[in-house]
Amino acid sequence: MSAHAQSLDVLHWWTSAGERRAVDQLVQQLDKRGLGWNDAAIPGGGGMAAVKVLKGRVLAGDPPDVAQVIGRTLTDWADLGLVLPLDDVAQRGRWKGAMFPVVLQVVSHGGRIVAAPLGVHRINTLFYNQALWARWKLPVPRSWDDVAQAASALRRAGVTPLAWSDEPWQVATVFETLLLAEGGASLYAELAGAQRPSAWADARVLRALTRLRWLRQLAGESPGEQRWTSSARQLFRGEAGMLIMGDWVGGELMAWGAQAGRDYACAPVPETAQMHLYSVDTLAMLQSRRKRDAAQEKLADIVTQPSVQLAYNQAKGSVPVRTDIDPSQLDDCERDSWQTLAHPGSRVVPSIAHRMAADESTKDALADALHRFVTDPQQTPERAQERLVAIVKGAAR
Ligand code: GAL
Repeated sequence: MSAHAQSLDVLHWWTSAGERRAVDQLVQQLDKRGLGWNDAAIPGGGGMAAVKVLKGRVLAGDPPDVAQVIGRTLTDWADLGLVLPLDDVAQRGRWKGAMFPVVLQVVSHGGRIVAAPLGVHRINTLFYNQALWARWKLPVPRSWDDVAQAASALRRAGVTPLAWSDEPWQVATVFETLLLAEGGASLYAELAGAQRPSAWADARVLRALTRLRWLRQLAGESPGEQRWTSSARQLFRGEAGMLIMGDWVGGELMAWGAQAGRDYACAPVPETAQMHLYSVDTLAMLQSRRKRDAAQEKLADIVTQPSVQLAYNQAKGSVPVRTDIDPSQLDDCERDSWQTLAHPGSRVVPSIAHRMAADESTKDALADALHRFVTDPQQTPERAQERLVAIVKGAAR
């Protein structure tokens, strides 16, 4: 029995050290305000397992009270009437005036607010190990040439240039940053938003595939499907020099005692400066026979408060969903992300791999095709591109 007057079951996939630390911030803040958090965490990066368990529970008529449901999955579920609208909470909390436009867009559907936003992750992030950079006097990796130069110096020093995993969602995460780098924000918007097959047939997509193969070669022999935390560990220990991954890696490194600017640094993936490839984490309040509306609304209100936003996001590596926080409270990586989001000249585009732009099955099919491409050296980039075009055509039907 919980000591609280009210408790809510919360299903999510934040089980690594950094993710756990961030969740603990929420749990503590809710606790102070008399609301209990019954944790139903399902391990597995990118929520691959969590979403399956969640679907099963919803179909069985036993949904958790609150769940991390994001992007297209969120809007699809809102269409099915599965989530509690939060318009009153949003109005009382003046979300409209306080939140980034892209955040409001992600939580709005059919004229209603359908989830409470927690934080904005930047996917186009390249992490590198500062000690290695200082020791070998490597160039800040701003261009692919810089990356290539750093990679050969690291290799000579016996260090793996780039940490890598063949896990499909991780390959897809790296690949979308390459689509943005090679195609720019306009082509990317057509690939992700409109999902036009002719855009997927563009020569720049082929270049992104070739770049993907090159990056995997930088990782050395058959890296396997290691968890993202294992790649972060290689970077932390200086066994690998670089890692391209969403900025939750920063939260993880911090949880292990590392500091941005001292032990590791971030740069936007080359050719993506002033661009923000985002994934917004959101908590949806699920409808069920158990009437919990008041507690669910209270949770949504608390997690979006400025102080809670700051505490949670500082630990998570992401940035607050609000524009009215003090960016000097954020670390170097987070501040660059927040400022890029806040800058009117920036291009802000949605993640395909993290459900912001494609539905669950399309993003899985794309990730699967990319996984096959990187693990089969016989498969040409041209063939891989045909697969991608076919998937997008199929989804458009
Ligand atoms: C993303 C999620 C992040 C992070 C990551 C790794 O999908 O938005 O919060 O936890 O997966 O599991």
